[in-house]
Amino acid sequence: MIEIIDLKKKFDDKWITKGVNLEIPDGKMTVIIGRSGEGKSVLLKQIIGLIKPSEGKVIINGNDITKLSGKKLEEAFKKLGYVFQFAALLDSLNILENVGITLIENRIPMPKIIKTVKEKLALVNLPEDILYKYPSELSGGMRKRVGLARTLLTNPNIILYDEPTTGLDPITSRIIHELMFDMQKKLDLTSIVISHDVDIFKYADKVALLHDGKIRYFGDAKTVWESDNPYVYQFIRGLPEGPIKSEFTIK
Ligand SMILES: Nc1ncnc2c1ncn2[C@@H]1O[C@H](COP(=O)(O)OP(=O)(O)OP(=O)(O)O)[C@@H](O)[C@H]1O
Ligand SMILES: [Mg+2]
Repeated sequence: MIEIIDLKKKFDDKWITKGVNLEIPDGKMTVIIGRSGEGKSVLLKQIIGLIKPSEGKVIINGNDITKLSGKKLEEAFKKLGYVFQFAALLDSLNILENVGITLIENRIPMPKIIKTVKEKLALVNLPEDILYKYPSELSGGMRKRVGLARTLLTNPNIILYDEPTTGLDPITSRIIHELMFDMQKKLDLTSIVISHDVDIFKYADKVALLHDGKIRYFGDAKTVWESDNPYVYQFIRGLPEGPIKSEFTIK
């Protein structure tokens, strides 16, 4: 379980995270939703230690990672995979180099790197013949898969995705969601997904909604469409802000 306790973060004088409390179950997929600019990416980066919180705790496998530094943080980090909001591939490197970059840096022999990269590409259903292609030669959906393959390189047991389907059409988005779901089961992962895309609910276990720096809803993904929680009700239907109008009130 990942336990987030009263997590707070301010940049200059502005509080972005205002006291987040959340228990993320092991071996399940938890989706965090919320409007643009609410601080979802900032929350995710605090969970993996990329941003240091101003206050609060993030307990992963019994360790408060906000208190770790140096080697210990690196160790904790190895168990985590982070899929960036945009695939964040390096345009001047081919797919083999993009996915295998950490192995290349660690001077692992090339045949071994090729073997490992091929395995990871297979996991995300990409053909081997893209190894020597460049990111600009791939479609957006393929680039997202390459980003995912790179994340799998360290065999993480927790994967955090920041908007994995942004910029993709609904059909490609569905394919990515199915892939995330399959990997979730196959590799027995704990997945945390930030998404605006309600299609993910079909594949997820839990949904949390972030609004004004706090979690305003946390419940089962299967029942999220029936929820009368005003924040989640409005968000998933794309209703305008403000109090719920009477015609939208659930009986
Ligand atoms: N390093 C930083 N320094 C200062 N302010 C930051 C920093 N990172 C994020 N912010 C601010 O925190 C707020 C939340 O940003 P964040 O990127 O987490 O939003 P988000 O919910 O992920 O939005 P989106 O859905 O558009 O990705 C924004 O107002 C942003 O300007
Ligand atoms: Mg974001």
